[in-house]
Amino acid sequence: MNRHTLRHAAWGLSTLLLGACGGGPEALPPGSSPEVLPVGFTFLPQPEDNPLTQEGVELGRWLFHAPRLSGNGQVSCATCHVQEHGFSDGVARSTAGVTQHPLSRHTPALVNLAWMEGLFWDGGAKNLESLSLAPLTQADEMGQADLEGMMAGLSADPDVVRRFEAAFGPGEPTLGKLLRGLAQYARTLVSARSRYDRWRRGEPGAFLTEQESRGLALVRQRCKPCHDSELFTDNAFHNNGLDERFGQGEDVSRGRGRVTLRDEDAGRYKTPTLRNVAVTAPYMHDGRFATLEAVLLHYRGGMVRSATLDGAFLREGQAPGVTLDDAEAEAVLAFLHALTDEAFLSDPSLGPPDAP
Ligand code: HEC
Ligand code: HEC
Repeated sequence: MNRHTLRHAAWGLSTLLLGACGGGPEALPPGSSPEVLPVGFTFLPQPEDNPLTQEGVELGRWLFHAPRLSGNGQVSCATCHVQEHGFSDGVARSTAGVTQHPLSRHTPALVNLAWMEGLFWDGGAKNLESLSLAPLTQADEMGQADLEGMMAGLSADPDVVRRFEAAFGPGEPTLGKLLRGLAQYARTLVSARSRYDRWRRGEPGAFLTEQESRGLALVRQRCKPCHDSELFTDNAFHNNGLDERFGQGEDVSRGRGRVTLRDEDAGRYKTPTLRNVAVTAPYMHDGRFATLEAVLLHYRGGMVRSATLDGAFLREGQAPGVTLDDAEAEAVLAFLHALTDEAFLSDPSLGPPDAP
């Protein structure tokens, strides 16, 4: 165990806010998140024009759980992004939005977003500051057709004004501040306290079983180059053999190709993280697989060929896929469970704030 790593790991949010420079371990602000980053990461990326502050994060957390932002006053971000599901929702295509129409894609987990380079399954959102406008205004999600009216309502509530002023100084609540607050909170959704992480940091008593270690080695070998790094994603877009054909033009079923309008991106989707994957079922951009067992069966023998299928899956003289025998698949499955971060999934500092 490397003492230096532990010291970094033990730095609190206050240190992260100041930038990770100098100093030793500090007292953790009680209940704050993130207290710990994945191994090898020493600071939480944040844009210069929206640095994290405790009050900004608090405002974002409150907004994330506020149904009053939606058109019918009943749907919040947390309606679909549920903490115990890794901020996913447990259903293939949510009908929890204001119209109750099924959405076109599965609700992704919100995990370690501060390091994500493209957002949404197709990378259609570039940064967390602008992203929230999409779910806020999308008719089948929060259906907020009157942003001005929404802001006027917030400005008329002294408690809300107090929250905005604590975060951004004197002045009216604005849509820009609202989006910045939500983005700050989203950046604090850091998962780095799973059994795997504790073992990685060499924490006393932390271990992986022999089977889990074997599973880790297999993931590092065979799930490359995609579910790579401590984030278990390469932040890139791939076609993992789910479909033979894709929609045209800007159809959502064209995946990354909808955004770039390039043929070579048809059917490519962002590699999702494997962190907390045991609690984020169902799987893939449309939630088509109900279990991790079904996902592994897909990789081992269920793939279909298409023009953009990723080269990583091509095997000499065999159908495309990932080679794993039964015992290896069991080991991978066992390891995936070691990525469940109970502390993150139940951290009260990420959950709904106390009512005012
Ligand atoms: C009705 C369900 C629903 C609601 C409400 C909702 N989302 Fe989402 N969210 C989704 C779905 C579905 C996607 C995937 C969209 C896509 O990729 O096309 C998503 C994607 C995201 C992503 C991108 C994650 C990634 O890894 O790419 C973020 C961040 C996010 N939502 C934050 C929010 C915030 C903040 C709010 C509230 C302002 C919110 N969501 C409200 C369903 C919802
Ligand atoms: C060539 C890249 C690539 C390789 C190799 C790869 N994956 Fe994936 N994986 C992806 C992409 C891309 C998706 C999302 C596809 C989609 O939704 O359309 C995905 C989705 C998944 C999901 C679903 C996650 C979720 O949140 O929905 C799991 C689980 C998964 N992969 C596990 C694995 C395992 C285990 C291996 C190795 C045995 C592996 N993958 C190999 C690219 C890859």
